[in-house]
Amino acid sequence: MVFKLSSQENLLSKIATGNGHGEDSPYFDGWKAYDSDPFHPEQNPHGVIQMGLAENQLCFDLIEDWLLDNQKASICTNEGVNEFKDIANFQDYHGLPEFRNAVAKFMAKVRGNRVTFNPDNIVMSGGATGAHETLAFCLADPGDAFLVPTPYYPGFDRDLRWRTGIQLLPVVCESSNNFKITREAMEAAYERAQEANIKVKGLLINNPSNPLGTVLDRETLRSIASFINEKNIHLVCDEIYAATVFNQPNFISVSEIIEEDIDVQCNTDLVHIVYSLSKDMGFPGFRVGIIYSYNDAVVSCARKMSSFGLVSTQTQYLIAAMLSDDEFVGRFVAESRKRLAKRHRVFTWGLSRAGIKYLKRSNAGLFLWMDLRQLLKDKTFEAEMVLWRVIIEEVKLNVSPGSSFHCSEPGWFRVCFANMDDETMQVALSRIEEFMLLRNVGSMVPVKRMLRQQSLNIGGLSRRFDERIMSPCLRSPHSPMPPSPLIRATN
Ligand SMILES: Cc1ncc(COP(=O)(O)O)c(C=O)c1O
Repeated sequence: MVFKLSSQENLLSKIATGNGHGEDSPYFDGWKAYDSDPFHPEQNPHGVIQMGLAENQLCFDLIEDWLLDNQKASICTNEGVNEFKDIANFQDYHGLPEFRNAVAKFMAKVRGNRVTFNPDNIVMSGGATGAHETLAFCLADPGDAFLVPTPYYPGFDRDLRWRTGIQLLPVVCESSNNFKITREAMEAAYERAQEANIKVKGLLINNPSNPLGTVLDRETLRSIASFINEKNIHLVCDEIYAATVFNQPNFISVSEIIEEDIDVQCNTDLVHIVYSLSKDMGFPGFRVGIIYSYNDAVVSCARKMSSFGLVSTQTQYLIAAMLSDDEFVGRFVAESRKRLAKRHRVFTWGLSRAGIKYLKRSNAGLFLWMDLRQLLKDKTFEAEMVLWRVIIEEVKLNVSPGSSFHCSEPGWFRVCFANMDDETMQVALSRIEEFMLLRNVGSMVPVKRMLRQQSLNIGGLSRRFDERIMSPCLRSPHSPMPPSPLIRATN
């Protein structure tokens, strides 16, 4: 007889069943909404378009060509099978030397060869996700804190906190100065921690930034380096979008600041870089992440822990061959930047045409930080959620609300633009444009074009928007129709 308990509560650990994963945030809710109704141009043209996923899918053709031309790099091919036995057996947690050499070379290349990286300071991990957790575990004890400038990638809450028990405290950055990380904001966060008797062990920055899509300038990096040096706390720099910088100004890595900048005094033992191939190469499925630490004690501690999240040797072998191919890497990085720049141009042009603003200096990443403050009913995070539900349920775009990035100000949304083909991007833009036309806010599009688009009825939008107009924040106050049940439930 099968006997099942109705509750798993006492069977599983508190730490596993608690909400440390953070999956009940709108960031993950949006993914669920997409999963239950995914857009497909023929099979589900009214479905949700996924714009909540920071994936780089614009250059797979280049990778596929390389794989076909380099079959020896895959051990499951006629050309590569001779290596199968050795690779299948290898399990040293230092990793294949040729893998670490190739990653070190790639990191330097992506940073314009202005700095070099020592392969011996590289520790493998399961993506940047694993790298963050390992570092947090090595650098802080449960209850200790890291300061993090806002808005920040929601995954940090899970990656750094869940299993380590450390805390993340916000360094509050604001739109009034384009979310700049100022010395004053860092000092204020540090002081708040001290008042609360919390030990600050480090500062975590993400450059280029997810969700802002901007890079840190030299002056800010210098001020960060001197801040952590004076406080004698660690600096973790997540640089996983390093090669996605597609326009000026150039990316400046923290490594350039601490190694090359004569005006900066910084104890390099405090500095650690997190990197992965998930964004720059578009390989999140390969789980290739690394910690690059300037501190030998951290390297050796992290290496011991890395056996919990090694990169499979088969993947190391393939990546070593791919990243050692200088001609390919140069061509790939240049072409990837070109395609990202083009996609960014098309997307921002479409947004501007629809009357939507976004953080202007954006020149990196796979997303835009969209400014929808003008569409909020009032300046609250509740109003932000109401708007988010309209966008996801009725415009059928999964974008992520700023509150899930701990943004200090309601009305900002992250929207990803590199995880879809050109046609899907056009459908998304048409939906946005039509949404704005019907809201009659800020749009400069002539009525004739509006009518033409409505008669095309892309994805059945006209019908849906007619229904949507009845939702509370869009409906005329005199409308006889009731609000949609979905919106009512969230009010
Ligand atoms: C800033 C940042 N760090 C880390 C990660 C996780 O990357 P990975 O897939 O390498 O674990 C992401 C993924 O979106 C990210 O945006």
